Amino acid sequence: MKIYASLLSCDLLNIRNEISALAEAGIDGLHVDIMDGRFVRNIAFGIDFVKRICSSTDLPVSVHMMVDEPSPFVSAVACENVESVIVHREISDNLSDALNNIKNAGLGVGLAINPMTKVSDIENYASIIDTVLVMGVHPGFGGQTMLPEIPDKIDSLIAICEGNMSISIDGGVNSDTVNLVRIREDDTLIAGNYLFERTDENKVVGLKEKIKTLCCGISTGQ
Ligand code: DX5
Ligand code: ZN
Repeated sequence: MKIYASLLSCDLLNIRNEISALAEAGIDGLHVDIMDGRFVRNIAFGIDFVKRICSSTDLPVSVHMMVDEPSPFVSAVACENVESVIVHREISDNLSDALNNIKNAGLGVGLAINPMTKVSDIENYASIIDTVLVMGVHPGFGGQTMLPEIPDKIDSLIAICEGNMSISIDGGVNSDTVNLVRIREDDTLIAGNYLFERTDENKVVGLKEKIKTLCCGISTGQ
């Protein structure tokens, strides 16, 4: 299982140091949220930001596009350490085209589902998806509480998951909710607010402790 840090809640004016501290603490990768103010009621990072992040770190980067029409941005975001691009099941753009664009760019194909979207709604796309990103909260903002129905939803998803389709969980991941969700060896937990909320300790020590807590809290179950 891997732990990725969502940069949405980091100290943005100090981001180079934040990323260095995450790397030193042993984070597995970075998660960057792109928003368009339309698919979600917020604006986050853009393509140039992703490129700057990629040029400043060797960590793998996953790009989460909360964007209604992601296709034009897929190839633009494909820098060296971008390992995957995740688009949403609920977009108004042609979803098959968007997923194929990601695949054709040589990137991992991610499909995200909002809390209201049923697990069965991904089945038509299963053959092309590398990872399903389950939103633990309504998308658009960090620091929300994971919705109570999410652990059962993940169980249902595991039941229909094909061999090489992994699961990522994004939103509301913390030391409590990690004990509620089932996660397998190849799956990923994405944490923002939990990792970046203030502690009195040294930054790297604090992050190491939190990463360890998330790893240890996992109830593995293939
Ligand atoms: C929310 C974003 C998440 C967010 C998670 O729409 O997609 O990546 O940063 O933040 P936390 O971990 O604070 O819920
Ligand atoms: Zn995200």
